[in-house]
Amino acid sequence: MKQGFVSLHLLAILMLLFGMFNTCKSSEDQEDSELGDAENDNDSMSISADDDKDNDAVNKNCSRSQNSLTHEIQQARLGQFPFVVAVMSEQNEYLCSGALVSNGMILTTATCLKEYNISYVLANTTKAVKGDNAIILRVVYSVKFPTFQADETKDVGILYVDRHNHSEVTRIRISNYTASKGLAEMEAIGFGLNLETHGTRELQYVGFEHRPAYDEGDIMKGYLDCIETKVVTCFRDTGSPVIFNNELVGIVIKGQPDCIKEMSSSYSVNKAMANILPTYVFKTWLDDRIAKNELNQKVTLVAYPDVAQSENEKAKKIRRVLSHIDTSSGSKPSFLNIFVLMSLLLHFFKV
Ligand SMILES: *[C@@H]1O[C@H](CO)[C@@H](O)[C@H](O)[C@H]1NC(C)=O
Ligand SMILES: *[C@@H]1O[C@H](CO)[C@@H](O)[C@H](O)[C@H]1NC(C)=O
Ligand SMILES: *[C@@H]1O[C@H](CO)[C@@H](O)[C@H](O)[C@H]1NC(C)=O
Ligand SMILES: *[C@@H]1O[C@H](CO)[C@@H](O)[C@H](O)[C@H]1NC(C)=O
Ligand SMILES: *[C@@H]1O[C@H](CO)[C@@H](O)[C@H](O)[C@H]1NC(C)=O
Ligand SMILES: *[C@@H]1O[C@H](CO)[C@@H](O)[C@H](O)[C@H]1NC(C)=O
Repeated sequence: MKQGFVSLHLLAILMLLFGMFNTCKSSEDQEDSELGDAENDNDSMSISADDDKDNDAVNKNCSRSQNSLTHEIQQARLGQFPFVVAVMSEQNEYLCSGALVSNGMILTTATCLKEYNISYVLANTTKAVKGDNAIILRVVYSVKFPTFQADETKDVGILYVDRHNHSEVTRIRISNYTASKGLAEMEAIGFGLNLETHGTRELQYVGFEHRPAYDEGDIMKGYLDCIETKVVTCFRDTGSPVIFNNELVGIVIKGQPDCIKEMSSSYSVNKAMANILPTYVFKTWLDDRIAKNELNQKVTLVAYPDVAQSENEKAKKIRRVLSHIDTSSGSKPSFLNIFVLMSLLLHFFKV
């Protein structure tokens, strides 16, 4: 009996792999994209239909497949990104976004620290206003990156705030990647998206494409492509965390202040939306600060994503593979795909 389960499991994995190779060969899944596409740099930049291998009819000449992170700006749910905070003034005005990297430590831009009198940050909220259940963490002091004054592009700093141990907030892990060239896409999360008025700022997120050929020095450019939106789109924020694979890969140091309407799902728009400082530029400095902060610390923060969220991610992954099998094999699911599907479920739930 046990033997049977083991071989079934093995078979499941084999079928899963086989299925993946067959259906995802040319897709730009999250998993694939990390490997980068040095040889395909020209592909991702082209506006033509040539590089389009597996998109459906609607996305005929968009270079991105449906399963990529690039999508329209979306409203974040409470608890979806529990490491993101809103940086606020004494007058309760929203100033910048920030990310919890350790208990009592918020990563944001040095410009934000320089230009404003920051009073507190708000966590456990999707709206940049005090009230309801938002957790208020008062600022104790702040530090800018040591060479920031001399080099304006090293626009990063740390806000030291009250410590806390609420389970509603987590810290984001810092990615240990050392070059951005292989990073094809990423996700930016902040309170400054899609905003033309001075209304309440809400937490939103969007997938960016990265085009290494357009980088300026170390600064990455986040692009929108084939985005479906009926609302004006901009990125009026700095300090927004940029993540890939649930790890911090950068922070937005300059957004796109001009709000634009012309976004399309049927042709490439190639709109540069944000300048992003990669984490490897300041990781040594940040790691050192985090280590000092966590020395003698009684309660360290849980890292994102926590266990409950991981279960969610698993479910999402299954859905993603499902939709992929669906779109790439036509309307009728074949026997093979059903088998792959079953194998997949067996694999995930470890029968
Ligand atoms: C990209 O295209 C240019 C010419 O259009 C060519 O010189 C270059 O080698 C190409 N790069 C890659 C990686 O194919
Ligand atoms: C995209 O494809 C449509 C037809 O599917 C075509 O009408 C349109 O001109 C194409 N756009 C670009 C920018 O190639
Ligand atoms: C910050 O506070 C100081 C002293 O309270 C004040 O002089 C300065 O104008 C304030 N700056 C801003 C940007 O509000
Ligand atoms: C965080 O927000 C949730 C939902 O609004 C609320 O139930 C919870 O009490 C908040 N946590 C704290 C520590 O305030
Ligand atoms: C969190 O802090 C409170 C007091 O501030 C303490 O009572 C509680 O036990 C702490 N929780 C954890 C998980 O350490
Ligand atoms: C980067 O981190 C991953 C796990 O997060 C680890 O497996 C890998 O060895 C690390 N790479 C380097 C170069 O430290």
